[in-house]
Amino acid sequence: MGVEICVEGLTKSFGRQVIWQDVSLTLPAGEVSVMLGPSGTGKSVFLKTLVGLLRPERGSIRIAGQDITTLREHELYEVRKLFGVLFQDGALFGSMNLYDNIAFPLREHTRKPEGEIRRIVLEKMDMVGLIGAEDKLPGEISGGMRKRAGLARALVLDPEIILFDEPDSGLDPVRVAYLNQLIVDLNAQIDATFLIVTHDIASARQVPDNIGLLFRRELVMFGPREQLLTSEEPVVRQFLGGRMQGPIGMAEEKDAAQVEQELAQLGEAADAAVPDVLELTPRLLPTEGIERPPRWVEIADREALRRLRASVRGRAGDA
Ligand SMILES: Nc1ncnc2c1ncn2[C@@H]1O[C@H](COP(=O)(O)OP(=O)(O)OP(=O)(O)O)[C@@H](O)[C@H]1O
Ligand SMILES: [Mg+2]
Repeated sequence: MGVEICVEGLTKSFGRQVIWQDVSLTLPAGEVSVMLGPSGTGKSVFLKTLVGLLRPERGSIRIAGQDITTLREHELYEVRKLFGVLFQDGALFGSMNLYDNIAFPLREHTRKPEGEIRRIVLEKMDMVGLIGAEDKLPGEISGGMRKRAGLARALVLDPEIILFDEPDSGLDPVRVAYLNQLIVDLNAQIDATFLIVTHDIASARQVPDNIGLLFRRELVMFGPREQLLTSEEPVVRQFLGGRMQGPIGMAEEKDAAQVEQELAQLGEAADAAVPDVLELTPRLLPTEGIERPPRWVEIADREALRRLRASVRGRAGDA
């Protein structure tokens, strides 16, 4: 079914450095959400906090109704079985071949016999296109293959919650397209709750139900894909547009006067860049034969999209 994750007022610091503060969002059960944000804004820290590897200073993370920030280590161990996580660096064991790497969570967390473990491992390896590479060591394969091995390992426990930290970084564009299709198909088939960190705007536009953006130690916005893609908020527009002009600078934030000047220079071009919800990039559909989750708005139904836009505007206005 997937489970809902409800984050409220979450704050994380390291010593005196606040990474982000007062982050509140709900990852709806069974939906795909993407988290965007400039490098260093704490996206990876956010994922690690959700799995309980890092402790927040304030706030709560309710998973299936339970606040995991209050759990002890041995209780967290149980909660972690709900998760399938692909860390940013892949985190494969260098001395183990791919087969053993992918089998590791099954051997660690279950008492399944080796025959069944073999069936599951080969099924997941097939899913990510790694059949034949069972005996390879992580050091002997390409970065993209390591990434896919990490994906397979994240899936072996049939997780309710899937966290992928930049699954597409270091992949060529064709592999990114395959990966996106795999995510959409997986989500339709296993219906887990997904949170994906990515820098790939094209993927962020097509794949998720929801998009969030971290910037300047805050969650600037989190909501349905359509809400973010049609947002007039300058930070959101700059990021989704991949533009230099706007509040986000190379190293840190720019001063207000400079931002205003840049946006004025963009002028009408900036306004024209706000797409109408009817013109949005269509979302990626599951492969033919895989049933679509019922929550999806029929893209073909323009009337449904109009209603959706009205409701999104309404909700954005309430906030
Ligand atoms: N264990 C830690 N101890 C101290 N500081 C940390 C720790 N982990 C992360 N940080 C700091 O937290 C900040 C956010 O790091 P994080 O890796 O979450 O960024 P990110 O948004 O994932 O960036 P990128 O897009 O480059 O992956 C950085 O300044 C980093 O140095
Ligand atoms: Mg990161």
